[in-house]
Amino acid sequence: MSLDLTTTIEHLYSGTPVYKNELINLLKCEDPQIIELLRSKANSVRQEIYGTDVYIRGLIEFTNYCKNNCYYCGIRRDNLVATRYRLAPEDILSCCDEGYKLGFRTFVLQGGEDGFFTRDKICHIVASIKDKYPDCALTLSIGEWSRADYQAFYNAGADRYLLRHETACKDHYSKLHPENMCLDTRKECLFNLKDIGFQVGSGFMVGSPFQTLDNLVEDIFFLAQLKPHMIGIGPYITHKDTPFRDKESGSLDMTLKLISILRLSHPKALIPATTALGTIHPNGRELGLKAGANVIMPNLSPASVREKYMLYDNKLSTGKEAAEGLDELKKSVAKAGYKVVIDVGHSKLI
Ligand code: 5AD
Repeated sequence: MSLDLTTTIEHLYSGTPVYKNELINLLKCEDPQIIELLRSKANSVRQEIYGTDVYIRGLIEFTNYCKNNCYYCGIRRDNLVATRYRLAPEDILSCCDEGYKLGFRTFVLQGGEDGFFTRDKICHIVASIKDKYPDCALTLSIGEWSRADYQAFYNAGADRYLLRHETACKDHYSKLHPENMCLDTRKECLFNLKDIGFQVGSGFMVGSPFQTLDNLVEDIFFLAQLKPHMIGIGPYITHKDTPFRDKESGSLDMTLKLISILRLSHPKALIPATTALGTIHPNGRELGLKAGANVIMPNLSPASVREKYMLYDNKLSTGKEAAEGLDELKKSVAKAGYKVVIDVGHSKLI
């Protein structure tokens, strides 16, 4: 077993700065003993801070219209095969009603960047959910807006905001997105959100096309700078109706390794075992928890629209991945050694 890498893991654990080369070597490493050491350290850090609790979030995918044209994403504007939908505010509230009964205390409103949903419309939806469920947290995941818009969402009652940076390297960013999108704007949004007072989540795809190990290290360093409350990472998964249809998907092992590294460097962060992880491996979610994740986000959208929010091929939305499958999820989480709890599940960073 490599002594160097043992030291790197120790340094991550103790919060001692780690060099780029060390991280690259750790990401390259295939020694099962080192990988297991990394995983078990990450798991024990998670247990120190959050015990065996797993927080659940009800994910409501309320629109799949999107003005953006990200090359990897199944709901990109130029995907003419996608069947588009929008939920009415009453439908969104019914999802929350359903979710509340099931035990969800966080609702996540996620959607494409859809001009139909103006600042006022979003504020209205946010306020009506918070009015009905003041004991719940509301998370928005609706992309890039101006600082004034974010402030309005916050004033309306939104607590958290998810906006993945996708890749922290400019050059790589431009290979994943068309010219009108830019990494600086994305970063500015994230810092604005934090400054306003949101609990902020960021993250990236693992194994996205053209990604190098250097890029992943930049992602780790960017997150160290941002210090988000939540970190969402999942494997890139090919979608057949995008320009990246022929690109390979990311790997389970690399994603798990990165979850562990991020848990060690952000002990108090909320880290989901994502749907993408569950999609590439039948046991992906449970392996994610064992690697240091402590959140799961089952789908609370109406069953009729789930198939239409296809960010990537075969995206799961039934069984354990669905809010109604919560009993099944609880069992599999318990089998992995953890416990789904009814809790608003704020980050211990605040
Ligand atoms: N594979 C994996 N994740 C994807 N996302 C979008 N498209 C894909 C894909 N093909 C992720 C992005 C986005 C989040 C909502 O979904 O990281 O931020």
